[in-house]
Amino acid sequence: MAQKANPATRHVISINDLSDKDIESIFEIARAFLKELPDPHFPYRIGRSSKIASNFILASLFFEPSTRTRLSFESAMLRLGGEVITSADPATSSAAKGESLADSVRVISNYADIMVIRHPRDGAARLAADYSPIPVINGGDGSHEHPTQTLCDLFTLTKKNKQLKNLKVAISGDLRGSRTIHSFVYALARFGATIMPMPAKGMELPAHVGERLREEFGCQMVSAQKGGGDPSIDALYVTPKEPHQQSLFAGAEINLDSDVVEQKVDAVYVTRFQKERWQEKDQPYPKIDRKFLNEPKYSEASVLHPLPRVGELDVSVDTDRRAVYFEQAAYGVPVRMALISLLLGIKGKSLHKFQGGFERKKYPVYDQPRSVGIHCVNTNCIVHDPMEAQYVRNKFYIIGSDDGSRYKLRCVYCESDARRFVVASKKNKWFTKNATPLLRSDDQHFKELVVFANETDALANGFHSRRGSGESPGAAQEGGKRRAKSHGGS
Ligand code: CP
Repeated sequence: MAQKANPATRHVISINDLSDKDIESIFEIARAFLKELPDPHFPYRIGRSSKIASNFILASLFFEPSTRTRLSFESAMLRLGGEVITSADPATSSAAKGESLADSVRVISNYADIMVIRHPRDGAARLAADYSPIPVINGGDGSHEHPTQTLCDLFTLTKKNKQLKNLKVAISGDLRGSRTIHSFVYALARFGATIMPMPAKGMELPAHVGERLREEFGCQMVSAQKGGGDPSIDALYVTPKEPHQQSLFAGAEINLDSDVVEQKVDAVYVTRFQKERWQEKDQPYPKIDRKFLNEPKYSEASVLHPLPRVGELDVSVDTDRRAVYFEQAAYGVPVRMALISLLLGIKGKSLHKFQGGFERKKYPVYDQPRSVGIHCVNTNCIVHDPMEAQYVRNKFYIIGSDDGSRYKLRCVYCESDARRFVVASKKNKWFTKNATPLLRSDDQHFKELVVFANETDALANGFHSRRGSGESPGAAQEGGKRRAKSHGGS
């Protein structure tokens, strides 16, 4: 019998799989490890090992190059007294023979107790979790997310006595292709920071990330030009709409009337051009150097970078008191030790339940076989990987706007949004642009429906337009609005 995932197993695929309390617990334990297993010379370095994970094995399954993530996870497991097995090069694993990720995960989960995975495809880690009875940690999937990097970033800020509430964080570079940025901005938004995007040209935050910041994390966009903002930066800031209550980064209540443009920058987060995710190889790209940091507004700004750097962060900054990126990389060990301990339940606490604070919204899921209807709009999503074709499904969260007037479908794997689609009835052979039939979240009802990307696909599959369904794509009628409210999530 095929091995199945255990619904009770906790995976960390997105930073939003962790509640605020989870993150607080991870940091509390990471601080304890730094204290209990110190290096006498470097306060950010774990200097000794323990035996608390001596009965456990970590599998690191890396389909893309890595230095920090893989080695710090492996170091973390060894420092906990556990063992490590590694597949670091897809050319020497059975992926080279054509084995699917889903099968690899089902096999490897028998060899280890916890798994960290990196993959070039967005959504690959969620697919792995679907097939894994042991905890899966996302070590970076395409340009989707890199949640444990964000844990290191936030931990570094806390060690620098930065409180995220009211903090102003500039994010520079490839905001579109950088998965570290996507996890980071969700966390910043959750904890009430103001985000100042400084993208390279054409590398702005993806539309669906911006939409989530507004719709799910209560952010608003504030014009940088108000008050004579710096024209060299992006036109918008992302700020919290209302005061946040999280204790982790508690500070004074945010003053919505304060002019964020005038506020000094507390942290500059630099990212490299993700050349592996772009067709264009040479792009004009912002460079952070001493001259840039000499501007008075950066006088107290910590400089972070997930690394590796490839020229966008000048080495002359290394000796500046504001440079914290090597420390940030060092914190990968205690932070990942804490996460592993919590997921394995070996430090007196367990991450098996959300413990409060932010909780990921729950949406109804529309699920149809891979062979039928609409596919994820993101061509780099794992659902488009031919090797996984038999193992993925067309699975989407059904997400309504607050007033229930519009709907979109968010891919369960990579979290990209499809805003246009039509819903067809197999029984009646009609289709409609109206989302209402989807809102009856009952599996039996879903089986009678097919969602197509557009009318052309529906017509090509023998469906005809339902009379009187001329409303805009994704729109819902009154009945849909009422039902949508009933499963709008927590
Ligand atoms: N920050 C980071 O993910 O680095 P690696 O690619 O070396 O793992």
